[in-house]
Amino acid sequence: MEKIVILTGAGISAESGLGTFRDEGGLWAQHRIEDVATPEGFARDPALVHRFYNARRVQAAKAKSNAAHAALARLQMDFPGEVVIVTQNVDSLHESGGAEHVIHMHGTLAGAFCPACSHRWASPPEMAVGEPCPACGAATARPDVVWFGEMPYHMDAIYDHLAEATLFAAIGTSGQVYPAAAFVHEALQSGARTVELNLEPSTGTSSFDEVILGPATETVPSWVDDLLSPR
Ligand code: APR
Repeated sequence: MEKIVILTGAGISAESGLGTFRDEGGLWAQHRIEDVATPEGFARDPALVHRFYNARRVQAAKAKSNAAHAALARLQMDFPGEVVIVTQNVDSLHESGGAEHVIHMHGTLAGAFCPACSHRWASPPEMAVGEPCPACGAATARPDVVWFGEMPYHMDAIYDHLAEATLFAAIGTSGQVYPAAAFVHEALQSGARTVELNLEPSTGTSSFDEVILGPATETVPSWVDDLLSPR
């Protein structure tokens, strides 16, 4: 039975108006990672970190899923084998585009997390410093997003999926952040075919059997059409 494992990055949500990180003028050109996406940054200035994620949460809530998100949902629905979507994105556009069981390895803007008792709950649209945890009352609640230096979520499940993949696709990711950037090597180990769909070649592009360049809203729907057309 064919099993397709798909890794997505910020590029799949770019045409929905959400900024990527490393493109011209991207999020890391506007903010220092160490200030807004590390535990040390949060400890140093939690208000700045909340402001950063509040702005992204409000923007993500207004964004609409695009044809690439919809195409992956269609693939999940109509493909005769299993289709697993692993995303580095913290937006919910895969879900609003109809995808199911999406694995958010970097967490989600929709979630809040209590470092004191590990309780998780649905984040309010805007979090504030000193937000009390609904379970234990500790005033150190944070966005349930994985920061640099922290272990991404669901890694065991992801490696199990990669071990069974017959096709691995990386869509809209620059291939610069680990462990996601090494998933293609895991897939090659298990004998999967590998394809990259990106606006431009990623850092890891040479590891892929096939590279399809262009905007995701064009390349992903036609890639899905090919996968679903009778061979
Ligand atoms: N269609 C397809 N690809 C696109 C599009 C588009 N319309 N627009 C941009 N891209 C590509 C860019 O060419 C780039 O290779 O998407 C990629 C985005 O790369 P990054 O900005 O580095 O985003 P990503 O790879 O998701 O970053 C990974 O880094 O900062 C951390 O946690 C953050 O999850 C993020 C991780």
